[in-house]
Amino acid sequence: MDGSRAGAGDDGQARRRRALGQRLESLAAAGVETLPKRRVGRKPTVVPEPVTAAPPNQTADAPADRGARLAVIRTEVEACTLCADLAAARTRTVFGAGSATARICFFGEAPGADEDASGEPFVGRAGQLLTRIISSIGLSRDEVYILNVLKCRPPGNRTPLPDEVANCRGYFERQLATIAPEFVCCLGTSASHALLRTEEPIGKLRGRWFAHGGAQVLCTYHPSYLLRNPSAKRQVWEDMQLLAARAGLELPPRGD
Ligand code: URA
Repeated sequence: MDGSRAGAGDDGQARRRRALGQRLESLAAAGVETLPKRRVGRKPTVVPEPVTAAPPNQTADAPADRGARLAVIRTEVEACTLCADLAAARTRTVFGAGSATARICFFGEAPGADEDASGEPFVGRAGQLLTRIISSIGLSRDEVYILNVLKCRPPGNRTPLPDEVANCRGYFERQLATIAPEFVCCLGTSASHALLRTEEPIGKLRGRWFAHGGAQVLCTYHPSYLLRNPSAKRQVWEDMQLLAARAGLELPPRGD
């Protein structure tokens, strides 16, 4: 056997073992005590749970402590190198922004170039559209919380890889568990699939209610998709009306 290749394999194994250890610690800190067994050779068929009534919203933290807990997670994210390639290429991590006691979280996919440069989620063209979507239900960005599945920009804005989602799961699950929102609005396929652990197409997921932790979850199209397909804005508007009705928000007069 080629000794140098065996040595490289050992290094790789040690790195994977370290990454696995960090991931398990992160999941344990998020309160995840058991992991489902993966069946080799079979695709998981996960059916998201539709909900019709709000389950009780549970949080371990008093509202006043949520900001401090988020700050702890942010520090971990800033030092994270679980996805070595993404960590090496990033300018900044993009943790999330908004109110630590928000009733509604908007959950996106991953930072793009503008977000990588600024460290803030949804600040580019798609972000400006998201700001308008949020104001369509009478809220400002400061009144909600905006976060992404991935905290680092994938090269060329490609779709997050399953390993990358797994590496970030401990972070976004802990963010959501800390904020304990009543509602999570998943923006697009990646966010919906990551949160609900489903592979159903976004066109079938949107407009329905699901449960995640104590939150009610609604999926809708991603603002970037709307930039390419403006005719889908009507469906997003319908989804926002659903969200506003369930959250008891009064819709402002439409200015379009
Ligand atoms: N798209 C996303 O999904 N998130 C961002 O923060 C920016 C663009």
